[in-house]
Amino acid sequence: AKGGYDHFMRKEIEEQPTALRQAIRGRVGTDDRRTPADLESLPRDSLAGVERVHFVGMGTSYHAAMYGASVVDWGIPAQAYLSGEYADRTPEPDEGTLVVAVTQSGETADTLEAVRRANEHGARTLAVTNVVGSTATRDCDDSLFIRAGPEVGVAATKTFSAQIATLALLRERLHTDTVGAHSDDIDERLTALERLPSLVEQTIEDSPVRSIAREFDDSDAYFFIGRGTGRSVALEGALKFKEITYEHAEGFAASELKHGPLALVTTETPVFAVFTGYDDEALLTSVEEVSARGAPVVGIGADPTGALAERVDHLLELPDTHPDVAGVLANVQLQLFAYHAADRIGRPIDKPRNLAKCVTVE
Ligand code: M6R
Repeated sequence: AKGGYDHFMRKEIEEQPTALRQAIRGRVGTDDRRTPADLESLPRDSLAGVERVHFVGMGTSYHAAMYGASVVDWGIPAQAYLSGEYADRTPEPDEGTLVVAVTQSGETADTLEAVRRANEHGARTLAVTNVVGSTATRDCDDSLFIRAGPEVGVAATKTFSAQIATLALLRERLHTDTVGAHSDDIDERLTALERLPSLVEQTIEDSPVRSIAREFDDSDAYFFIGRGTGRSVALEGALKFKEITYEHAEGFAASELKHGPLALVTTETPVFAVFTGYDDEALLTSVEEVSARGAPVVGIGADPTGALAERVDHLLELPDTHPDVAGVLANVQLQLFAYHAADRIGRPIDKPRNLAKCVTVE
């Protein structure tokens, strides 16, 4: 069942180009204006009444929700919430609110509870899920499938990538339905999305991450920083790393560093900086701050001019692409890093201690 791989996680990392192709297939319009095609139960103009979007999710799905909110927010007010916090502590959704439940399994109790609250307040609810017939699809008004195929490893990998691709398409549907204007940006973004599967393939093939993992075996802690969508990827990189290695890992917004986390940074704490091509200069300032404390820095990003390589200790280079999807490529590198680090210390990668694939209690 593992198709020749030692672990499902490794197999599922490698399946990402296929998962992405499936997520995109038939969903990008082929007319000369390249609008997003009808998204199953969300045909053209179906989201015209949406005034704001609340994304909810837990764990990796929460990070995809954050990613989705940062791209949607350019045109429509959008915010991501942990489903478990959504129940009673956040602004009340109303009829103009689209609540997007991001959940691989469609069975996560906290997320189903958030959907229940949204329905109660008359919001429109949409499940973005991998599982046809799951509870989320029954409880939400509409469903959008991420089509990643079954994921066995407890650590979510290919479903994160497929969630991002699906949310990128949802974003285009939302923007064309609400704002209406067509712009060249849409063309550019859709082209980048269509190229993404082959760029992921290339990233996996060329990744030098295995030898880098060896260098950091004895580190005290592992930090991950980024800005914008890069922040969601930093949080996801830390989650994946702690989940399967049991080592201390933390992700935060690079802008937070000086407000506390910098006190933890030493020569024994590698810092992984996620460059997406957006706000890179500001991120480089954070890199300088941690480098000045002697922390080894691993930069993850495209480096067409070679300038990034000069500012970091190690570079996990990415193919150049649109900033809105670059995070998916960076995340693949971080998945591989977590995988190799966990494998080196013999962890049960597919079944980390204390964790279950699906959390059906709150
Ligand atoms: O099925 P869901 O996407 O709703 O699951 C949410 C989280 O439990 C899940 O992403 C969890 O964080 C993963 N083990 C992370 O790798």
